[in-house]
Amino acid sequence: MPDFKKAIIYQIYPRSFNDSDGDGVGDLPGIIQKLDYLHDLGVDVLWLSPIFQSPNADNGYDISDYRAIQPTFGTMDDFDELLAGVHKRGMKLILDLVVNHSSDEHRWFQESRKSKDNPYRDYYIWRAPKDGKEPNNWLSFFSGPAWKVDEQTGEYYLHLFAEKQPDLNWENPKLRQEIYQMMRFWLDKGVDGFRMDVIPFLSKDTTFPDYPEGRYGDLTIYANGPRIHEFLQEMNREVLSHYECMTVGEGFGVSAEQANLYVGKDRRELNMIYHFDHAVPREEHRFIDPAPEFTLPELKAIFHKWDETMGDTGWQNIYFGNHDNPRVLSRFGDAERYLYESTTMLATVLLTQRGTPSIYQGDEIGMTNCPFNSIDEYDDIQVKNAWQALVVDGGQSAEVFLQTANRIARDHARTPMQWHDGPNAGFMPDGGQRDGQIHGEPTVGGQTFRQTSEGPVGLTERLTGSRQTESRLTEVSPWLKINPNYPQINVADQQVRADSVLSYYKKLIRWRKQTPAIWEGMYRDLLPEHPAVWAYERIANDERLVILANFSDQDVYVPEVETGEVVLSNYTTSSFALRPFEARILAPYA
Ligand code: GLC
Repeated sequence: MPDFKKAIIYQIYPRSFNDSDGDGVGDLPGIIQKLDYLHDLGVDVLWLSPIFQSPNADNGYDISDYRAIQPTFGTMDDFDELLAGVHKRGMKLILDLVVNHSSDEHRWFQESRKSKDNPYRDYYIWRAPKDGKEPNNWLSFFSGPAWKVDEQTGEYYLHLFAEKQPDLNWENPKLRQEIYQMMRFWLDKGVDGFRMDVIPFLSKDTTFPDYPEGRYGDLTIYANGPRIHEFLQEMNREVLSHYECMTVGEGFGVSAEQANLYVGKDRRELNMIYHFDHAVPREEHRFIDPAPEFTLPELKAIFHKWDETMGDTGWQNIYFGNHDNPRVLSRFGDAERYLYESTTMLATVLLTQRGTPSIYQGDEIGMTNCPFNSIDEYDDIQVKNAWQALVVDGGQSAEVFLQTANRIARDHARTPMQWHDGPNAGFMPDGGQRDGQIHGEPTVGGQTFRQTSEGPVGLTERLTGSRQTESRLTEVSPWLKINPNYPQINVADQQVRADSVLSYYKKLIRWRKQTPAIWEGMYRDLLPEHPAVWAYERIANDERLVILANFSDQDVYVPEVETGEVVLSNYTTSSFALRPFEARILAPYA
């Protein structure tokens, strides 16, 4: 069985993980400082969201130099040290490959826009206006049309995401070779693979038809273009197959039926893919008209369908949280009354599905959505642009928008990691001076942080009550608000308690590593219709396990499911009924 199937991935969002130098932004030395923590947690693979040079229109998913480290994150030496530190501890490191688009500040685009006959013109997707307007009616993920006219040549370029994220032209073999070269550069350094950003979008229908009838605004239309498998097979042949590495595709717009084309054993494309069927829908209009949360039977049906369709022909990457979704605990748990129980229950389900699980940073301590009180407190371009389009330009209700954003925005997952209950939750060094600036407390005189929307460094000039004698001080704030619940939810507290969420995660991870039935066993849903309990079995060879997870805050008795010896549970006492958010892993009596 290949390593990637047994592995547990941990996703780091570098901006928010650990800031070693006190500029308000997480960095690579900060990650190095926490490698022992990650090793101790027991994870095998670290996936870093983009660490490359970027003007940060989309927090690093807009890359201006694929071979340079974002200066606020550190240097190439820091990267080399990080990679060595990861390997020394027996872990692996995978990078985010963002090659559907680059930044408009990338040298290629700067050249490309200069003239129609520039050698880099074909690195991007340019089209003449159609009837004086956009070449088709496609919309961008971040509001407005997916085309922008460029004055220099009067043509439009395609950007499925922000205007500052022009789509690369994969039809151009020269562009493809540049990307492959860049991938080799990182693989030659020793990185262990890639998570591939919106990979199904690389190939487009080059006739650029309007949305098909009845699907206006359907952003999944961009996925699975005519040459996608040809491109991925080429990438595999030319690059991936020459290295020992693992790949995870972000499968936006890929259906369960299509997924095996990307990851099927004989396809020679990718190792794993993750889908969006259970993700929070966040297209622009959702900020006013939110989709209801999935019911448990719906959620189970999605997992069942994917497992059944993929079987072990292909392989899934399983997740509940990532940097594009709100916190899973705030979706399916009860952070107020059952923080421990509901977080550990969700962890149990995540880590006992068939597929390679990804844990998102902070979920291992039960981090929750953050109360954002105004649009200014947000950072994400998606929520900002939707606000502009719906509230400012569209006159829709600010109140409804903010209420919804507090449920669905991506920034909930991006607030700084909560390391301890001291200043800045331990995300930044407390006190101290840097560049002539003095760091302050996270809240001074009851004030919360000011957010900056563009700059990597949140500089807040203010007089602090206790320091008025010290003349005017410039304070450095974290780039995004710290969740005010950090005094209650933080790593330091949980590290010393055997009954903490973190301790449960460690126990569960260690147990999983010794349990082949979880890596490779068949999955069967035992109670697909049950409204409160997710009950399933995992079977491999002569090992059989039954997992019960109560998604409700009530006692639930499930006599339909056989009982057995409790292998692991998030409750210490026994009971017939499942208690609120109880999770039990059972070895059924023979
Ligand atoms: C992916 C990333 C997301 C980003 C988008 C554009 O979906 O996960 O964060 O905004 O691609 O690169």
